[in-house]
Amino acid sequence: MKTEIIYPTGKYFKSFHEALSTVAKERVYIEMIEAPPLDKVSSFQSQLIEKNGPVYYALNGDRVVGWCDVFPEENPRQSHRGGLGMGLIPEFRGQGLGSKLLSSVLDHAKRFGLEKVELNVYTSNISAVALYKKFGFEQEGLIKKYRKLDGQYFDCIAMGKFL
Ligand SMILES: CC(C)(COP(=O)(O)OP(=O)(O)OC[C@H]1O[C@@H](n2cnc3c(N)ncnc32)[C@H](O)[C@@H]1OP(=O)(O)O)[C@@H](O)C(=O)NCCC(=O)NCCS
Repeated sequence: MKTEIIYPTGKYFKSFHEALSTVAKERVYIEMIEAPPLDKVSSFQSQLIEKNGPVYYALNGDRVVGWCDVFPEENPRQSHRGGLGMGLIPEFRGQGLGSKLLSSVLDHAKRFGLEKVELNVYTSNISAVALYKKFGFEQEGLIKKYRKLDGQYFDCIAMGKFL
């Protein structure tokens, strides 16, 4: 079955929530270790979509298998910048979907008027760091022992890309 990149509508929020939950439960890639409740996740996504913000899902049939979004900062003196988050459920990694999602979201972020996209990535996340560098993100900082989970520390790289 072909996987396509779509601009989301509300009918996909439940499936998006499941994908987010799957990646969160892996515990090593994104900050959350479980997804927030569906209503909270839906309301966050709706806020971005209602203003036609940068967010895309990877859809396999009716199932959301990945996402990429950029949330603009709320402070008006910082709203030229946005924070990026993304993920794919395990079976759909390494097939070019991350690149497609990222490319769509960066184009959209520029059209939306953002000047800069930023993200945090754990140094242990080799694939993600490589993907971001491939798309022109540069390291702006290194936060040592950024996260502590079950006694294990994660260092984190702050990256940014000017659009
Ligand atoms: C990081 C992630 C989004 C990348 O998406 P993907 O679809 O697997 O990546 P792609 O197939 O588009 O590959 C794009 C680039 O990523 C890098 N990459 C992907 N898989 C890799 C691997 N196993 N090892 C090293 N680099 C890898 C490469 O630079 C690759 O470019 P190339 O094919 O020209 O070498 C995906 O692996 C993922 O969801 N990981 C778990 C969640 C996560 O880490 N989210 C980001 C948190 S900051």
